[in-house]
This record gives sequence, C-alpha cells and structure tokens, in this order.
Amino acid sequence: MNLPNRNAQVRLRRQRDGLPDAGDFQMGDGPVPEPGDGEFLVRTIYLSLDPYIRKAIRGDHPGHAVLSAGDVIYGRAVARVVKSRHAGVKQGDYMVAETGWQSYAVLTPKKIVQRIDPAMGPLSTAIGVLGMPGLTAWGSIAHLAPPTVGDTYVVSAAAGPVGGTVGQLAKIAGARVVGIAGGKEKCDVALRTYGFDACIDYKKDGWEQALQLACPNGIDIYHDNVGAPLLMKLVAYFNLYAKVVMCGRPGDYHSGEFGGLSPGPFIGKRAQLRGLVVYDYEKDLPRYLRVASTLLREGRLRFKEDHADGIEDTPGHFLKLMRGENVGKAIVAVGPEKG
Ligand SMILES: NC(=O)c1ccc[n+]([C@@H]2O[C@H](COP(=O)([O-])OP(=O)(O)OC[C@H]3O[C@@H](n4cnc5c(N)ncnc54)[C@H](OP(=O)(O)O)[C@@H]3O)[C@@H](O)[C@H]2O)c1
Repeated sequence: MNLPNRNAQVRLRRQRDGLPDAGDFQMGDGPVPEPGDGEFLVRTIYLSLDPYIRKAIRGDHPGHAVLSAGDVIYGRAVARVVKSRHAGVKQGDYMVAETGWQSYAVLTPKKIVQRIDPAMGPLSTAIGVLGMPGLTAWGSIAHLAPPTVGDTYVVSAAAGPVGGTVGQLAKIAGARVVGIAGGKEKCDVALRTYGFDACIDYKKDGWEQALQLACPNGIDIYHDNVGAPLLMKLVAYFNLYAKVVMCGRPGDYHSGEFGGLSPGPFIGKRAQLRGLVVYDYEKDLPRYLRVASTLLREGRLRFKEDHADGIEDTPGHFLKLMRGENVGKAIVAVGPEKG
C-alpha cells in the first residue's frame, strides 16, 4: 500500500433521519494539510467504524455537534504521526485519535484517544479488543455485572467486538456463555473463534426453544448490545435477581427513539438493570490493556475483524454495519502501517 499524496475525505452530503444510504455521503479531496505551532499531522491507517457514529452525525452523542452538509464525518482511527510541531508528540508515534473519515488530519493533543504501544498487539486491535470496544466489555465485566463461576451469561450481537470480548471475559471468569447473533456465520465466530458454549441464531425459527435448551438453569446475567425488543423476550428466562447491562440499541440510533421496554416483568424477576457508558472507565484503560494484551498473547482472548480496503469504501462498509451485516469489528484499512 502506497502513502497517499492527497487528503481524501468522506463528507456528509445530506442530514436526515432513518437508515443511512449511499446518497448521504460524498467524497472530497484536498492537499495534505500542514500542522501549525502546537499541532501535529497524522496519517490514517485503520479507520474505526462504530454504531455510535450514526448518533454522532445527528448530534445525538456526547461531544459531537450535529454535522452539516460538507462536513467530514466523525471517526476515530489508528494513526501515525507524520510531522509534529508539538513537544509531546513525536514523528512516528502511533495513536488512536479523532481523525474523522480522511486520510490525513492536523490535530492537537486533545484529539488523542489513546497512545499505542505496538508491542501490545496488532495495531488494528487498538480500535477493537485493545481499544474502546474492549474497554466497554471490561466495564461490563469488571464493574457493572461481574460473573461468578457457574453463572449463565448471555450476550447479544455476540460476533461483534463488544459482544465477543465480553463473552470471552465472562468465560474466563467461569461462566457458561451463550451468545445470540444474527446468522450462522456470526454464530460460527462466537463458537469457533471466541469459544462460547453455545450461540443462538435469532433469525432462525425456534430460536427461543434453542435458547431455553442452551440455558437449562436460566439466565443470570445478560449483556444487552441490541435493545428493547430482544430484552423483552429474554426476561422470561431470567432467574430471580438477574442482572442486565444495557450497553446499546443500534436499531434506535437512526431516530433517537427508544421504545418497547415495560417494567412489569423486570419487577417480577427483581432484576437489576444497569446502564453502561464506556467513558466512565477511561481511567481503567491501562489496567484493562495489561490484562487483555496478556490474554491476547496467551491466545486466551481472540478477535475477529471485518476489513474494507481504501477510504472510498468507507461509506459502503459503514452502511453494512448499519444494516447489522458486519461480522466482527468493522475497520477500513486506509494506509500502510509503516512509513
Ligand atoms: N454504552 C457504551 O458506552 C458503548 C460503547 C461501545 C459500544 N456500545 C454499543 O455496543 C453494541 C455493540 O457494539 P459493537 O461495536 O461491538 O458493534 P457490532 O456488534 O460490531 O455491530 C452491531 C451489531 O448489532 C446487531 N444489531 C441488532 N439490531 C441491529 C440493527 N437494527 N441495526 C444494526 N445492527 C443491529 C448486529 O448483530 P446481530 O446480527 O448479531 O444482531 C450488528 O452486527 C452497540 O449497540 C454499540 O452501540 C456501547
């Protein structure tokens, strides 16, 4: 892969509610920008596509103002410093930064999300298992609902970076882990790559019976990545005092509405529902990275990535994520790791 000599960008073409489509985005292009005093220039290597970006575009996510037509789309990436005019940032440094969807960005240190030590794992994992999605899983397991030996632990969107990591950490803690995912390919990832005890394809007829068979002792903890409709079905199989970690609801990100949750069944089960926001655990990132990179090296923590190649493929890959068709962490490879 050659170093890009222009700054290719993906910009918003129009702002609207609903499932995005290809007409919402347009490609832009400009010269590679120059950093000023106190700034540095980074080159994008791996662009992270995440469900929250849909909310951010609409201005419905912390720290993100609503985008207007012509604005570069928000996003984080594994990036390398090309030129620096800031004393604390060196040429050649790797980092996860708020670059936006573009091949180069001029930044200040406020836009650094995480410095990367390349010895910890493959660079791309800094936006997956060794990054924000992994830390989300850690927040759930270490802080909100720690499983104990013999618990039955259920997780939805089981093939994704949050679901896959949370389920593996629950298994390491001694739980029986049952994934729920859309389709055979995703269930194969949950079973073969992540080593879950069972995985239920909720798109198949009879999935509720299959879930009951996979959870003969009922459900103790549910990590919810998908929101109300599935949660309302699963509560029937909860044990008394079951815990739910409410992490995401991707189907509702297009409109901002969150319907369909009624409290009665949760009261009956004396369930505890806890909301998760990953930003609460930022201070715990170094501890998480020490634990997770060791597990990764030992082969006890695994990951699955779904790559697109080239910045012009970003909108298409994002739309795939929006339709729930990604199998693993959605990433766009924009530029080479070296150079
Ligand atoms: N609260 C926080 O701080 C925080 C931080 C990070 C992530 N999250 C949330 O955690 C969840 C998992 O994140 P991730 O990065 O690991 O995502 P992901 O699993 O790679 O992708 C989202 C998955 O959600 C499922 N899904 C169900 N209904 C969907 C719908 N209507 N539209 C699109 N997808 C749908 C799909 O899997 P199936 O086909 O298997 O259902 C899809 O592949 C997301 O909801 C995300 O927003 C929350």
